[in-house]
Amino acid sequence: MHTVIAIDGPSGAGKSTVAKLLSEKLGIEYIDTGAMYRAAALYLLGAGIDIHDSEALNAALGEMSIDFSDGRTMLNGEDISALIRTPEVTAFASESSALALVREKLVALQRRMGAEKSVVLDGRDIGTNVFPHTKFKYFLTASPEVRARRRADEMEERGEDPDFDEVLAAINKRDLSDMTRELNPLVQAADAVLIVTDDMSAEDAATLIASSVGDELAANVKY
Ligand code: DC
Repeated sequence: MHTVIAIDGPSGAGKSTVAKLLSEKLGIEYIDTGAMYRAAALYLLGAGIDIHDSEALNAALGEMSIDFSDGRTMLNGEDISALIRTPEVTAFASESSALALVREKLVALQRRMGAEKSVVLDGRDIGTNVFPHTKFKYFLTASPEVRARRRADEMEERGEDPDFDEVLAAINKRDLSDMTRELNPLVQAADAVLIVTDDMSAEDAATLIASSVGDELAANVKY
């Protein structure tokens, strides 16, 4: 028996930090599905594919392999973890992740990863679409201002000089496109536990999830 933990929510809610901490606490693998959509975007940008030409897109996706190795995101065997965090890739990932062919390929890959072993995945549609039958679903969110503050802090840590209002506007724009797209939009699953992280540290959120997963697993042990 293995466990699949789904963590969904908008950008900047703390999902990836919480999911990473949780995977360490539980000793299971972490799959950053946002990094997979970013890697696909980087690949399509680099290959100069017209994403509205479905034949060209399909052929390109067939040549693309995405994997994780020691916490690094690998695209066709190359570590592209840093390259997928640029504003250009971020914006293009939001656009290309709305395409059916891109989603089909990555969702199939995510399901394969979760079929083999216990995993925690974070994303937008894990509890609603990728693993709708898992018992362990969480929806992390925070106000747009708090999320923009966190994004701006991350950018400063990387040596960038972000403008808070621009970061906030980009967050609002991306939320809107992620929530209103036709295919698998960002929405809280009816049976997901809502966790608001405005005043909660990532460590506390991870501890909360780890204890509820632990209780549930213990309750299911048959003697
Ligand atoms: O979480 P992130 O910012 O790294 O995600 C990058 C983009 O990918 C974002 O615009 C939403 C999209 N995404 C998605 O459509 N489905 C997922 N499961 C994860 C991310």
